[in-house]
Amino acid sequence: MISLAVVPVAGLGTRLLPATKSQPKEMLPVAKKPVVQYVIEELEANGVKQVLFITGRNKTSIENHFDFDHELMRTLREGGKEELLAELEYERMRMQFFFTRQRRQKGLGDAVLCAQYFTQDAPFIVALGDSIIGLRGESRIVERMSEVFESERVSCVIAVEEVPLDYVSSYGIVKRGAGLLSGAFLIDDLVEKPAPEQAPSNLAIAARYVFGPEIYPALEQTAPGKGGEIQLTDAIRILLEQGRKIAGLCLGENEKRYDIGNFETYFEAFIEFALLEYPHLARRIRALNNANH
Ligand code: UTP
Repeated sequence: MISLAVVPVAGLGTRLLPATKSQPKEMLPVAKKPVVQYVIEELEANGVKQVLFITGRNKTSIENHFDFDHELMRTLREGGKEELLAELEYERMRMQFFFTRQRRQKGLGDAVLCAQYFTQDAPFIVALGDSIIGLRGESRIVERMSEVFESERVSCVIAVEEVPLDYVSSYGIVKRGAGLLSGAFLIDDLVEKPAPEQAPSNLAIAARYVFGPEIYPALEQTAPGKGGEIQLTDAIRILLEQGRKIAGLCLGENEKRYDIGNFETYFEAFIEFALLEYPHLARRIRALNNANH
């Protein structure tokens, strides 16, 4: 099993301004927890032991969130607030955290390149810190992707999800090739945020990847693309041009991807997760909605 993961959280989150002016988008709450806590809990459930966060300016709250807060623990214990203490259970996760800074926000590809010294020659998972997979972040996609990576001897495995055609211009889109024995399929091409008429399919890259070390020289060769950023998809394309095999694996039925990167999908995720915690709110929200229309 692959036990190393890289979690990029250095992006500026401009699409969520002003909410993200002085706080990371990865720390925005989705119901009770910040987005990135779901991501880390998912990785732990999938056998990850070491996580490297690629952080940036204004992101120290992420480091604090995963640290032990002895003082808060003591205050809660002394106040007999056992229920609240249980909410901090995640602090006991048996994972090691590492942090490095992407000094200039030159894109997701550049963020991944910052992990080279950490992962060296070992395969690793990349899990975007602004996307939750599955309700309550419960998903085994990363474990299945690791199995595909090992059994099919590919250079990269990408999680994909079908999206409506008018959403393709928000995501990286893959062109599906031959099926593989493991249930995954080969990817023949991929393109970042295409117009619907140019999209090779409606299969969107869904925020989880597994890479071998050959991604690093490809990233070093990648010229700045859309928006002057080093795009991870462009580097994966270089791997394809080198004749290497890239596999795609579809998210399962209960593994919807929740993208917290824009307000519309963030609000949708918040409401869905909040209703899981407080189902009785559904009626009130519906009544409010009816009253306003
Ligand atoms: P996005 O592509 O959504 O970019 O990042 P962004 O800069 O965060 O957001 P906008 O477009 O300005 O609204 C996807 C993931 O990659 C990380 C982000 O933190 C997010 O988890 N990322 C992005 C980096 O770590 N570094 C970058 O330079 C860009």
